Amino acid sequence: MEGLLPAMRPGGQARCITVSSRLGRITKVGKEWRPQFLSATLQVEELSRLVQRFLDAVREEDCIGQGWPTHVRESALSCHEHCLAWANVQCCAMYSPISQAYSVSKVAVNALNRVMARSMASVDTAAGVPMCHYYACCPGWVQTAMGGPDAPKTIEEGADTPIWLCTTPLSGLINGGFYGERQRQGKQY
Ligand SMILES: NC(=O)c1ccc[n+]([C@@H]2O[C@H](COP(=O)([O-])OP(=O)(O)OC[C@H]3O[C@@H](n4cnc5c(N)ncnc54)[C@H](OP(=O)(O)O)[C@@H]3O)[C@@H](O)[C@H]2O)c1
Repeated sequence: MEGLLPAMRPGGQARCITVSSRLGRITKVGKEWRPQFLSATLQVEELSRLVQRFLDAVREEDCIGQGWPTHVRESALSCHEHCLAWANVQCCAMYSPISQAYSVSKVAVNALNRVMARSMASVDTAAGVPMCHYYACCPGWVQTAMGGPDAPKTIEEGADTPIWLCTTPLSGLINGGFYGERQRQGKQY
C-alpha cells in the first residue's frame, strides 16, 4: 500500500480499495489478539510483528495453543458440517486448515487498511503529497477460480462494491472502513 503512494495523484482524492473478505472479521482470531489488531495506535511495524507471531505458531504447530483458532474449533462443527451449514456444499477449501491462514491474512489486511487510513489522514496535500483514502471490502461469494461455480454471485456482481468504492463521493464513505454490498459493515472488521 505504501509503495502505491508515489503513483497517486495529488489533490486529496486518491483511493486505495482492498478486496478483503468477511472471513477476516476480528472474531476469526483469538480474544488475546483482537485488541492488538483493533488498536487505534497500531502501526505497520507492530502489525508485521503480529503476523509474524501467527507464522511462528504455524511453524511450531501450535496455532490453537497460541490463540489462533480454526473455524471448525470456533463453531464446534466438523469441517464437513460447517461446509454444509455455510454453503450447502461438500467440504471446500474455505473450511480447510488453509482457511485459518486465509482469515488471519484478511484480519491483517483489514488492520492495515485502518493503519494506512490513519497515517494518511494528517498528510499535507498542499505540499503536493498525495493524500489517499483507504477502504476494504468483501465482494461476497463470487464465481471466480477461488469461489467456484456454485457461488451465487457473478463476477460482475462481485465487482459491484469495489467499483462503487472507487466512484462514490468521498463524503459518503468512512476512511479506513470495511464495506459489503455498498454498506459499511460492523466494527468486527
Ligand atoms: N471469490 C470469492 O468468493 C471471494 C470471496 C471473498 C473475498 N474474495 C477475495 O477477492 C480477491 C480476488 O479473489 P478471486 O475470487 O478473484 O480469486 P481468483 O479467481 O483465484 O484470483 C486470484 C488472483 O490472485 C492472483 N494471485 C494469487 N496469488 C498471487 C501471488 N502470490 N502474487 C500475485 N498474484 C497472485 C492470481 O493470479 P494467477 O491467475 O496468475 O494465479 C489471480 O489473478 C481475493 O483477495 C479474495 O480473497 C473472493
